[in-house]
Amino acid sequence: MKEVSGRLITRLLHPRPACVVIALSKEGKINGCTVAWTTPVNVDPPLVAISLAYGRLTYQYIKETGEFTINVLPRSMADAVHYVGTVSGRDVEDKLSSAGFKLRGSKRIKPPGIEGALAVLECVVRDELKYPDHSLITSEVVRAEVNEQYFTTLFSESAEVLLHVGGSVYAVPSKYLRARE
Ligand SMILES: Cc1cc2nc3c(=O)[nH]c(=O)nc-3n(C[C@H](O)[C@H](O)[C@H](O)COP(=O)(O)O)c2cc1C
Repeated sequence: MKEVSGRLITRLLHPRPACVVIALSKEGKINGCTVAWTTPVNVDPPLVAISLAYGRLTYQYIKETGEFTINVLPRSMADAVHYVGTVSGRDVEDKLSSAGFKLRGSKRIKPPGIEGALAVLECVVRDELKYPDHSLITSEVVRAEVNEQYFTTLFSESAEVLLHVGGSVYAVPSKYLRARE
C-alpha cells in the first residue's frame, strides 16, 4: 500500500455516478454541471446532498433560487456529461443545449430534467455546510422519477449507469454480483 494525499484522496471514493445538476438563475437563465459528489443523507424525508465548489455558475444559480434537479445518466451521454463538467456556463451561452441535452419539465420545481435520463430527482435546498473550497448542499427530494425499463427496486445492469472514475475516465458497472444472505 502507498500513501496518497491531496486531490488523489478524493479519487479513492470513485467510481461514483456522474450526474448532471441543473438549476435556474433568479432571472430564469438555465445552467447545469456534472457532479460526482452526491450522496443520500436521509430516508424519510428523502434528503440528498451535493458538494459544489463556490466558483461553479451552477452553485450561484442554486443559491439564487434554491432548487435543482439531479439527473442520473446512461453511458450514451458520457461525452455530453464530460463537456458540461469541463466548460463553465460563464464562458458558454446555453451550455446544456450545446452539449446536446434535451430538457423536459419537472413536476414540483422549476428547473427541468434531462430527456432520456435514467432518473431525475427534483430537489429543494434545505441547508448548506460551507467548507474551504466546496459547499455541501443538502436538499429534500420532493419528487423522483426513474425509467422503469431499467429499475424495479434497483438499477439493472443493462441501465449502464454512467460512473466517473477520475479525469476523463468513465465506467459502467460491468458485472453485478449477489452477496450471500
Ligand atoms: C465527471 C465530473 C465530475 C464532477 N464533479 C463535480 C462535483 O462533484 N462538484 C463540483 O463542484 N464540480 C464537479 N465537477 C466540475 C464541474 O462540473 C465543472 O467545473 C463545470 O464546468 C462547472 O460548470 P458551471 O460553472 O457552468 O457550473 C465535475 C466534473 C466532471 C467532469
